[in-house]
Amino acid sequence: MDLSVLFFLLLAAVATTVNATDHIVGANKGWNPGINYTLWANNQTFYTGDYISFRYQKSQFNVFLVNQTGYDNCTIDGALGNWTSGKDFIMLNDTQRYYFICGTGGCVNGMKVSVLVHPLASPPMLAVPAEHSSKKSSAPAARGFVSLLATSFAFFGLTLCSSVWM
Ligand SMILES: *[C@@H]1O[C@H](CO)[C@@H](O)[C@H](O)[C@H]1NC(C)=O
Ligand SMILES: *[C@@H]1O[C@H](CO)[C@@H](O)[C@H](O)[C@H]1NC(C)=O
Ligand SMILES: *[C@@H]1O[C@H](CO)[C@@H](O)[C@H](O)[C@H]1NC(C)=O
Ligand SMILES: *[C@@H]1O[C@H](CO)[C@@H](O)[C@H](O)[C@H]1NC(C)=O
Ligand SMILES: *[C@@H]1O[C@H](CO)[C@@H](O)[C@H](O)[C@H]1NC(C)=O
Ligand SMILES: *[C@@H]1O[C@H](CO)[C@@H](O)[C@H](O)[C@H]1NC(C)=O
Repeated sequence: MDLSVLFFLLLAAVATTVNATDHIVGANKGWNPGINYTLWANNQTFYTGDYISFRYQKSQFNVFLVNQTGYDNCTIDGALGNWTSGKDFIMLNDTQRYYFICGTGGCVNGMKVSVLVHPLASPPMLAVPAEHSSKKSSAPAARGFVSLLATSFAFFGLTLCSSVWM
């Protein structure tokens, strides 16, 4: 295989891994009663491949993935998943809205969070999402891709130069 192709593939693999953001629910307040997680979620932008992580006392709380009914009514009937480690990292695989609640009763005291996951911005859309510009995490993958392109072109240039001289 051409060395520069190999290099490109390697970079692409690194770039996609490095740019996944871990959204820590409640930041330094963690997953606890009495916190408005709607405010927290409104302050983040979620992309496919990002993680949402929950930090809590596992003797008291847990995390259930539910549908909108479960979220609205604080019920875990028909739950789609559950996590109990006290430090759970959950990958947001799909472009959809996810609903998480605490299944030990904390839900009625505010331990519920809903997040909307956006598709990874592709390079041609770079200029479009001005709405994200004020947010903390602006299209990490797109940023990664630009630096990836720059690095690849630099490497290509180097390869060309050295093949001319050798
Ligand atoms: C949380 O904040 C949102 C946005 O300001 C608000 O609409 C909602 O009523 C609040 N929820 C609670 C339980 O206070
Ligand atoms: C929103 O994000 C900013 C920047 O990270 C932070 O300073 C602020 O405390 C956050 N607000 C809420 C409600 O989480
Ligand atoms: C959700 O709760 C409301 C109010 O308690 C109830 O009227 C409704 O039937 C519930 N929905 C489901 C799907 O259980
Ligand atoms: C959520 O799941 C419950 C239990 O499986 C089901 O009865 C309800 O219709 C679902 N609600 C939505 C909005 O899909
Ligand atoms: C929690 O998830 C496990 C599988 O990971 C499942 O066997 C179990 O029934 C779930 N618990 C509830 C209460 O849904
Ligand atoms: C995303 O996929 C991984 C691997 O299949 C799985 O472990 C994880 O639970 C999925 N995330 C959600 C929110 O379902």
